[in-house]
Amino acid sequence: MSKAKWKEFGNIAVKKMAQALPGEKLLILTDTRADSDIAEACREAGIEAGIDTRFLIIPYMEPTDTSELAPKAAQTILDADVILGICETMFDEKAAARQAREKGARLAITSPAGMEDFLIEGICGVDYDHMLKVAERACELWADSDTCQITSSVGTNISFGMKGRPVLIGDGMATQPGELDFFPGVSIANAPIEETIQGTMVVDGNIPPGKLVEAPVTCELEKGIITHISGEKEAQDLEAYFAESGDPIAKHLCHFTLGLNPRAKTTGNVHQDEHVLGAVTFGFGSQDPDFKGMVPDCKVHCDVVLPSTTILLDGVVFCKNNRLNADLGLGGL
Ligand SMILES: [Fe+2]
Repeated sequence: MSKAKWKEFGNIAVKKMAQALPGEKLLILTDTRADSDIAEACREAGIEAGIDTRFLIIPYMEPTDTSELAPKAAQTILDADVILGICETMFDEKAAARQAREKGARLAITSPAGMEDFLIEGICGVDYDHMLKVAERACELWADSDTCQITSSVGTNISFGMKGRPVLIGDGMATQPGELDFFPGVSIANAPIEETIQGTMVVDGNIPPGKLVEAPVTCELEKGIITHISGEKEAQDLEAYFAESGDPIAKHLCHFTLGLNPRAKTTGNVHQDEHVLGAVTFGFGSQDPDFKGMVPDCKVHCDVVLPSTTILLDGVVFCKNNRLNADLGLGGL
């Protein structure tokens, strides 16, 4: 990766993703597993922009490690107005990050490993503002539609109602006090109306624990709940995941997400796979309260990705072959 390209990335990450401004305390937070060139480029971009830029490197912690950060690191986080995370550790789940957000700090985070090309191309190689405009238009269309039907060449045929449910944009940018966002974006998502979700979902992309399937996995759904899973070994693995969770709500569909980034490719990296233009992600289990859905509380959450589908809104093609319908005002990506 050329240093010059990380330089442009650093500028956009600081100014657009973190929205850091002179007068604010910007913290570049990285860990011992992340590529140090990336965090260094962000640090330089912050300094060049005249922002009070601090730098913190923490030891890498596994996702299953629930211990807290060292007190000095925690204090550095609490002192920041805006935190740009270039980090493989899920530090946003630590108490210091939660407390910083409660105080109004903004967090823009990425985990570079396995998606370095997308990290650059997904923010430097796209017209990000146009992507956001298309996202806003797509949200309007979802909000105005009664029913959504999704089909695919491998056998998906599922439909659901979504009228009245808010549509949220994952823009990748930390714009509001206390906001946490992951970049690169952009995606939009809602919670389909649970009792209307009916049909067959054939997963031919990413599946837990975050890899591409070798053979499609077929899930039958009734009233928003998976009733049957079939396929080969990965179907058994998915069934085992649900069983081991010990939580019956784990099989409840809790969000429908559409990727909108034309530079994202299906590679097996979950974040990138979910952001492929036209890729559909379904989440199961714990539901973000902002979706205003009716899925009961759940301890676990997982996502599956369908890389290429046809999406019909009230019978009109909204997206097909990873292209949005330009006639609906969704062109240009
Ligand atoms: Fe999810």
